Amino acid sequence: MRIVYVVGTRPNFVKTAPVVGALRARLPEGRHALIHTGQHYDHLMSEVFLEELGVPAPDHMLEVGSGSHAQQTARVMERLEPVLAEERPDLVIVPGDVNSTLAAALTAAKLQIPVAHVESGLRSFDRTMPEELNRIVADQLSDHLFLHCEDAAQNLRAEGIAEDRMHFVGNTMIDTLAALEDRFRTAGTAGRLGVAPGDYALVTLHRPALVDGPLLPETITQLAALAREMPVVFPVHPRTRKMMEAVESEHPGLLLSEPLGYLDFLSLLADAGAVLTDSGGIQEETTYLGIPCFTLRDNTERPITVTEGTNTLLGLDPSAIAQIPKALAQRPAKRPDPPPLWDGHASERIANIVAS
Ligand code: UD1
Repeated sequence: MRIVYVVGTRPNFVKTAPVVGALRARLPEGRHALIHTGQHYDHLMSEVFLEELGVPAPDHMLEVGSGSHAQQTARVMERLEPVLAEERPDLVIVPGDVNSTLAAALTAAKLQIPVAHVESGLRSFDRTMPEELNRIVADQLSDHLFLHCEDAAQNLRAEGIAEDRMHFVGNTMIDTLAALEDRFRTAGTAGRLGVAPGDYALVTLHRPALVDGPLLPETITQLAALAREMPVVFPVHPRTRKMMEAVESEHPGLLLSEPLGYLDFLSLLADAGAVLTDSGGIQEETTYLGIPCFTLRDNTERPITVTEGTNTLLGLDPSAIAQIPKALAQRPAKRPDPPPLWDGHASERIANIVAS
């Protein structure tokens, strides 16, 4: 069996690494070719992650880089098509919801190569989010849909997707987190940054709705106010860094850094007193780790992190950051159990289904 895995961004690497590992172990005689589109290309956004996750160097680098949505998507399609013609895979596996996911699913489907989508069926019901469009199209084009929560099946049914294409396997991002747990628990990253475990807020923000428009200056002001109550650690995504150049961001207690490697980031996440984010994956990682998460968005495609996890939707409203200290003081003492099948074995289930 010949399998191609297409990844392009930081969260793609995290979701795909354990799937490649499980399938290599299950089908050692097969061809397993990794294609990196190059959507993320900075050392700190790409190589560091692949190294820490133990992923072998990609077999093909498409080097598409940044651009408008149409440019980025079109470049992946143009450069991927000849690579798929050369690799002649029996299956193309795509994770997540980024532009590379959409482009790879569409290119493979047009070549009549079966597609498997990892993290299928998530919906925010907000079509202004580019990721929502990517998810809908990738799911429609995929032959095998790997789901990580039960509500994903309802979303897919509502879009007319047949039951026999769906497989509820669990969360491959949690597979990676569980596999790295011994290493990040002993990494001591908080201490190296001079903050005490349990005492600080960890912040990540990168979505266009928040960082590309007028909400960013108000968000920084609110973070500076939060930093007077507890230290705020903020590793800054390149997109956000670019937008912050025009904003006053030097405030006492606000610790800005470059993007971190995954082990350092997970170490900070596991030791945080609270997390403030607009990321999708971090809502899930905090739920698994039992860390209070506050999401600066109006909606989430991961409602299970609210209903069964530790996530609170603050809305797309920077002034809501001021509620965090009080919400922390009132939070329930008991940490919820992780959602079903977020158990570190999702990739093995995927490998068994693909092999059979
Ligand atoms: C992308 C995904 C988003 C995902 C995020 C994870 C889409 C539509 N968006 O957003 O769903 O949550 O990745 O991080 O696919 N840049 C660099 N170096 C890099 C990568 C990006 O400097 O290695 C800068 C460039 O200025 C670029 C901007 O960041 O224009 C945005 O990058 P892009 O890949 O378009 O989207 P992300 O915001 O990273």
